[in-house]
Amino acid sequence: MDLEALNGLLRPQSIAVVGASNKEGKIGYTVVKNLLDSHYEGVIYPINPTDSEILGLKAYPSVLDVPGTIDAATIIVPAKLVPMVTEECGKKGVKGLIIIASGFSEVGRQDLEKQVVDIAHSYGMRVLGPNIVGILSNSDLCNASFAPFLPLPGKAALVSQSGALLIAMDASTYTRRVGFDKMVSIGNMSDVNFADTIEWLDQDESTACISLYIEGLRNGRAFINAALNAVKPIIALKAGVSAHGAAAAASHTGSLAGSGKIYDTAFQQGGVVRASDLNNLFDRTLALSLQPPMQGDNMLIITNGGGVGVLATDAAERYGVPLRFAPADVQAELRKHMPEFGSAKNPVDLTGMAGKDWYYASVRFAFAHPWVDALAVLYCETAMTDPLEIAQGIKQALEDAGVEGKPVAVSFVGGEQSAAARKWLVENGIPAYDAPDVAINALAALREYARSRQMAAVPFQRYADVDEAAARQIIANARAHKNSSLTEIESKKIFRAYGMPVAMTELATTEDEAVQIAEQIGYPIVMKIMSHDILHKSDAGGVKVNVKNAEGAREAFRTIIANAKAYKADAVIEGVAVQEMAPWGTEVIVGSVNDPTFGPSVMFGLGGIFVEILKDVTFRVAPVSAEQSYKMLEEIKAGAILAGARGEEPRDRKALSEVLSRYSQMITDLGDEISESDANPVLVYEEGQGVKVVDARIILKK
Ligand code: COA
Repeated sequence: MDLEALNGLLRPQSIAVVGASNKEGKIGYTVVKNLLDSHYEGVIYPINPTDSEILGLKAYPSVLDVPGTIDAATIIVPAKLVPMVTEECGKKGVKGLIIIASGFSEVGRQDLEKQVVDIAHSYGMRVLGPNIVGILSNSDLCNASFAPFLPLPGKAALVSQSGALLIAMDASTYTRRVGFDKMVSIGNMSDVNFADTIEWLDQDESTACISLYIEGLRNGRAFINAALNAVKPIIALKAGVSAHGAAAAASHTGSLAGSGKIYDTAFQQGGVVRASDLNNLFDRTLALSLQPPMQGDNMLIITNGGGVGVLATDAAERYGVPLRFAPADVQAELRKHMPEFGSAKNPVDLTGMAGKDWYYASVRFAFAHPWVDALAVLYCETAMTDPLEIAQGIKQALEDAGVEGKPVAVSFVGGEQSAAARKWLVENGIPAYDAPDVAINALAALREYARSRQMAAVPFQRYADVDEAAARQIIANARAHKNSSLTEIESKKIFRAYGMPVAMTELATTEDEAVQIAEQIGYPIVMKIMSHDILHKSDAGGVKVNVKNAEGAREAFRTIIANAKAYKADAVIEGVAVQEMAPWGTEVIVGSVNDPTFGPSVMFGLGGIFVEILKDVTFRVAPVSAEQSYKMLEEIKAGAILAGARGEEPRDRKALSEVLSRYSQMITDLGDEISESDANPVLVYEEGQGVKVVDARIILKK
C-alpha cells in the first residue's frame, strides 16, 4: 500500500470542503465549523458555487479555483454530483477524497460508486467512503467530520464501518473516560478498507491500539495479513455473523462453516482480540491502549474485600485466565502487609482494614516478583480509606517496583470518590474500572493478545514434496469430461500428490481386473461403486468390506454392479474401486470450504456423532502450519479422545496435524479450482503409527 497517498487523506495539511455552506444545520456548514472549532492548523478551502465567504473563510466556486495545493477534499454534495466533483479534484491534484455523501452502493448504486472510484484512481487519488462521517484526529487538531467534537484525547484509534456508531462512541469517550487519538469512518469501503487503515495506523506515532467496528469484510485475506503485520494490538467488535454461503453449501463442511466460525478463527489467526459488545470494546480498548500484553499465565489478585475477590475469581474462570495460588515465598511476604485474618493465597485479601500503606507494600512487592505475570488490584470504598490516596499508592508502588512489560488493571467499586480515583488512574496510564469482573476481562484481553500473537508468529512452511502439476492434470481431465466433482479415485490421487497417506485404491472395470488389483494390494480389501451419478454409495448397496479372496472379489464385483443398476438404472458406471482395507482407528473428518470472505478454509472434527450431532468442529483459514493444526486438535471438545482419554492410548496427533497442514496447502494451491472437499474418514492410529485417509472427495468450482 502507498502510505504516502494515505497520509494526504488521513493527515491532511490542507482540506477543501466541497459543498461547504453558510446555512446552519447543513452538513457542509458543520464540517467547516468543526474544522475551525478543532483549531485545525492546516489550510481550509470552502468550496461553494455561489458564496464567496463561509464562516469567515474565503470560499471558491470550484477546487480548480483554489490557489494552493489540496491534500484532502471532503465531499458533501448530493451523490449524483460526486463524479463531476471527483473529476475536478483529480485535475486539481488532490491526494485523497473524504466522501461524506450517501446514495451509493448502500442503496444499490454500485455503478455510481465504481464510477467515482475509477475516476479517482485514474488520477491516483484514494477514496475514503462514501457514506461516512469523516475523520477526527486529536494530534492533528482536525475534526473533518460532522461528529460533534474531537474525542477525549488518548492513545487508541477507532475505525468504524458505521458512521452513526462512530458519532455515538465519540461522544461517550468523555463519559466512559476512554481516550482516542483518531476516529476514521470508512463506510462503504469503496477503496480504503480496514487493511489499509490498519497498516497506516500501525505506523502512526499517536496510535497505540487499533479498535475496529466491523460489519463485514470484503477481502478477508488482506485483513488477516494487515493484522498479522501490525505491531500494535488490534481489537474488533464484529456485528452480525455471516450466514452467506451456508444455505448454498453443497457439503457438510459448508453448512458447518456458515455460522461466523470462520470470522472467529480468522480474527484469531490475525492476532486480533475480540470484543463481545460495545461496552467491552471500550473496556478492552482502554487496557490495550495503556498496558503491555500479558506474557505468561500467572495473574495475582489483590483486594480489600472477599466479595469482589470471589467475583474476580469467577470472572477469571469465565474469561479463561487460570488462577493459581501464589508460591510460598510470595504468600509469606504478603502476609506481612495484612492482619492475621487476611489471606495471602490468590486472591490476596488485605481485608477492609487495608489502607494506602498495605496496598503500596503488597502491590510493590507482587508486581516486582517474577512469578507474577499480571496484577489485578481491586478496591471497595470504605469509610476508613480515601480512594484517591489508595489510587496514588497503587501508582507509586507500580513505579517503585521498577519492572516493565507487565500489565495491571484496577477496579474501584464505590461512589463519586471512587469515580474520581478511577479518572485519576486512567489519566496516569492505569486502566481502572468500576467492577472487578471488568478488570479481569481487561487482563484477559491482554493475555488473549499475547497468546494469539505467539500463535500467529508460527508461519506456515510450504511442503516442497508436492506435485501440484499432477493434481491440476487430474482436475483438467475431469473438467474435459464435464464433471463438476472428482471421483474418489481422482480425489485420492490429488491427496496423494500432496503427500497425504491415502488408503490405496484403483479402479477395476472387469472382475479379472478387480482380482488383479486386489492381489497387488493384498487381502482383505474393500470394494466400492464408482459413478458420478451415485454419491451415497452405501445407500445404493455399492460397498463391500472385508473381501478376503479372489472368489469373494469376483462375487462382490457382480453384486455391486447389479445393486447400482437397480438403484439408478441410468447411472453411468465407471467401475468398482478396489481399496486397501485400513485397520480400525479413531475416525476424524477433515473438510474444506472456499469462504466468500476468507477463501479456502480447513475444518476439523471427530467423526460420527461429534460432527453430525454435536457439531464439534473447528476451522482455520488456510494455509495452516502443522503447529497451528495441532491447536485445532486440542480445540474441539472431543479433543481429549485423541489425547488418550479413559485409559486409551494417545493417537498420532503429530501425523494428523501434518495431514491437516498438507491438506491446507492443497486447498490453497488449488483454491481457484476446488470449491469444497473432504477426507472422511481419516483413521488415526496410536502414537507413531500414523493416519490413513480412507475416503476423499473434491467438488470443483463452477
Ligand atoms: N461544488 C461545491 N458546492 C456545491 C456544488 C459543487 N459542484 N454543487 C452544489 N454545491 C453546494 C450547494 O449549493 C449547497 O450549498 P448551499 O447550502 O450554499 O446552497 C451545498 O453544496 C450542499 O448541496 P445541497 O444540494 O444543498 O445538498 P445537501 O446539503 O442538502 O445534502 C449531502 C448533501 C451530501 C449532505 C446529502 O446528499 C447526503 O448525502 N446526506 C447524507 C450524508 C450522511 O449521512 N453521511 C454519513 C452516513 S453515516
